[in-house]
Amino acid sequence: MSTYKIAVFVGSLRAASINLRLARALEKLMPADFKLEYASLGDLPLYNQDNENNPPPPVVKLKQLIADAQGILFVSPEHNRSLPAALKNAIDWGTRPWGQNSWAGKAAGILGASPSAAGTAMMQQHLRNILAAEGVSVLSTPEVFIQFGEGLVDDQYNITNEGTRKFLQGWVDRYVAWIRKFND
Ligand SMILES: Cc1cc2nc3c(=O)[nH]c(=O)nc-3n(C[C@H](O)[C@H](O)[C@H](O)COP(=O)(O)O)c2cc1C
Repeated sequence: MSTYKIAVFVGSLRAASINLRLARALEKLMPADFKLEYASLGDLPLYNQDNENNPPPPVVKLKQLIADAQGILFVSPEHNRSLPAALKNAIDWGTRPWGQNSWAGKAAGILGASPSAAGTAMMQQHLRNILAAEGVSVLSTPEVFIQFGEGLVDDQYNITNEGTRKFLQGWVDRYVAWIRKFND
């Protein structure tokens, strides 16, 4: 395969999101043949089954993004010990209508950043449960729970802490190898 399309789902809508910043930093650690495209979760209406057979354009775009991807990358905050509503909303749209689940058979990786040390562990577990039910294979280890302090990722999206950079490069290398193998 000449290029691998990776659909990125950042679970925060915030312009200054630390998870968006982390995703941008991960992008810099990826090889040149991995092309990342970000899902626009903020453009999606709230899921409504009345509209799933005539989906609004942002939903059509979302489902196409997933369908075209060789890999999925979730980088998300934890909201009240679970995944943010915006991310769950996107997952729900992607599963419908019945029989047209865009997620089935995809491979994914999950990471999360929080200002708190234990942050995103519960979110990641909940997300793994949901994805298992939708037929997504998720890279199991290493798990990545980033405690995100001020300046961890600079304005050029470089990771300023050497230990964290090495750890994340190791994760990216593993994710990349797995996505290549998965799509063989
Ligand atoms: C509604 C809400 C709920 C939150 N719940 C949690 C939580 O359960 N665990 C956690 O570690 N941080 C929690 N936080 C703090 C977030 O980790 C923090 O706001 C973080 O910056 C969000 O990521 P973002 O910058 O990518 O938006 C919560 C924040 C909000 C706004």
